[in-house]
Amino acid sequence: MALNITFRQLKVFESAARHLSYTRAAEELYLSQPGVSMQIKQLESVVGLPLFEQTGKKMHLTEAGREIYDYSLRIRRLLEEAEVVLDDLKGLQSGRLVISVATTASHFATRLLATFSQRFANVTISLDITNRETLQRQLENNEPDLVIMGQPPDGVEVEADVFMDNPLVMVAPANHPLAGQHEIPLGAIESEKFVVREQGSGTRIAIERFFARHGIHFNTAIEMSSNEAIKQAVEAGLGLGIVSIHTLELELETARLQLLDVQGFPILRHWYILQCKGKRLSPAAQAFKQFVLEHAKEFIRLP
Ligand code: PGA
Repeated sequence: MALNITFRQLKVFESAARHLSYTRAAEELYLSQPGVSMQIKQLESVVGLPLFEQTGKKMHLTEAGREIYDYSLRIRRLLEEAEVVLDDLKGLQSGRLVISVATTASHFATRLLATFSQRFANVTISLDITNRETLQRQLENNEPDLVIMGQPPDGVEVEADVFMDNPLVMVAPANHPLAGQHEIPLGAIESEKFVVREQGSGTRIAIERFFARHGIHFNTAIEMSSNEAIKQAVEAGLGLGIVSIHTLELELETARLQLLDVQGFPILRHWYILQCKGKRLSPAAQAFKQFVLEHAKEFIRLP
């Protein structure tokens, strides 16, 4: 008789086994830690053997755990293959996809689209990169098929799915006196100047809310509508910056910028994919939405 395992149990187990941590699996799958632990307990009871073991603080896979991990990867690959075959049957070889993404999301959205368009070579894609305020207006006019942005907008009815964390971090030039200090109190940065995004940017709104909530005044040195320009300005010493971690790659690797360990940071935001409520998505748009929900994290290179 076949093992009575569910795909859900395998998915949770696969994530916990990959990270060797229930906590990280819970974060990745947006579940609670007890939720993860329950799924794995159920799987262990079906299998009839423990899948993880603990030595000191370290988690390991048992021999049965390694076997199940291997099968879970193979099953996932087969399901992905089935998805491609079914997409073909649904006639996804053609179509048009109109997407708008927040300026900050463009740092990973282009990589996502590149892979998506390899898979759906005949789908024509139109991508608009703009800030939160404009995205809100586009949604009010029901223009794009799908939008990728932080925090869904107020005042427009949308269907939104969260797919990834978006931590905002504080960056300084490598030689800044605060670089390398730990748990810098917020008061210590009140005398600093900031290079910030323009009004209407989601990042800007999140920063203003953060400082207002903590009763801290922040000084703006200069406003810019591009994250790339902000990073260059910070590097050149115009002020400190607060940007999404997804905009930073090379700057940290090459130590041109430093993350500052400031109390209350990172400011936690999330990425959402959304559409106007009740909008009927075309097969191409449905495929893209599913692709983002399932694969977006693979396209993120965190420094
Ligand atoms: P932004 O959006 O690029 O407009 O700042 C990002 C976000 O909403 O977090």
